[in-house]
Amino acid sequence: MTSKPFTIGVFDSGFGGLTVLRELLDLIPNARFTYLGDTARLPYGSKSRTTIARYAVSSTNFLLREGADLLVIACNTATALALNEIRAAAGFVPVLGVIEPGAHAAFAANPAGSVVVLATAATVQSNAYSRTLDLLGIRSTEKACPLLVPLVEEGWTAHPVTAEVARIYLTEALMKAPDATTLLLGCTHYPVLKPLLHTVLEQMHRPLHIIDSARATAEAVLARLPAVPPLAAEAQPLAVFATDSVEKFQQLGSRFLGHPLPLVTLVDLGG
Ligand code: DGL
Repeated sequence: MTSKPFTIGVFDSGFGGLTVLRELLDLIPNARFTYLGDTARLPYGSKSRTTIARYAVSSTNFLLREGADLLVIACNTATALALNEIRAAAGFVPVLGVIEPGAHAAFAANPAGSVVVLATAATVQSNAYSRTLDLLGIRSTEKACPLLVPLVEEGWTAHPVTAEVARIYLTEALMKAPDATTLLLGCTHYPVLKPLLHTVLEQMHRPLHIIDSARATAEAVLARLPAVPPLAAEAQPLAVFATDSVEKFQQLGSRFLGHPLPLVTLVDLGG
């Protein structure tokens, strides 16, 4: 009899969490992964706490039904606004979000630094990043960037319009934080904009250190894992589910994952 492989459920409102999955696959080759992108209900970042919690809990329940032994909430917005509800739904299954690892990565990069956090409107309103950075003794300014998610969804990751939008957001944020040293990407969609953000910051003569939480989150997951035996040869290492167009997910998702996705399965989680 072969035992069930240790399964890590990874959840995001869409494709962006694949940047976290990419690091997890790299660091934890022995686990089996189940990824859910709740694309039908994206964006979470412009919704209320109650709605975000309802969507996040139904997504969590799906991953638990799929056999998750540990959950990674790759979505910053769901981590910021619904971590308690998700943990309550998960019971004994451990749940890790992206905010603490991201904040610790910013601290590790520059313990005496001052951080600008770019995130969705809901994440910024929750102040989850500032509270976590405060506890580490780091000053921070949060900036909502609601136009960046749709631009990335459109595939405009190197487009002049996206560069101009980023320039406006960064200028506004840096006016409030003239001594900033670090730019923390507090949204799953922003890591694919890193090259563009680097260029814009260089043009603004503000070469901030850019941090995303993907690697730090994968390292935090690895630290929490029991010893996981290698996957059996016949085990499928990755199953990907989406709640809207699987074709679009397949096509856009590979950009976030860095290589082609396995076949994506459509699931209906209701409204
Ligand atoms: N996944 C969300 C986040 O990291 C971004 C997309 C959305 O608004 O749903 O905050």
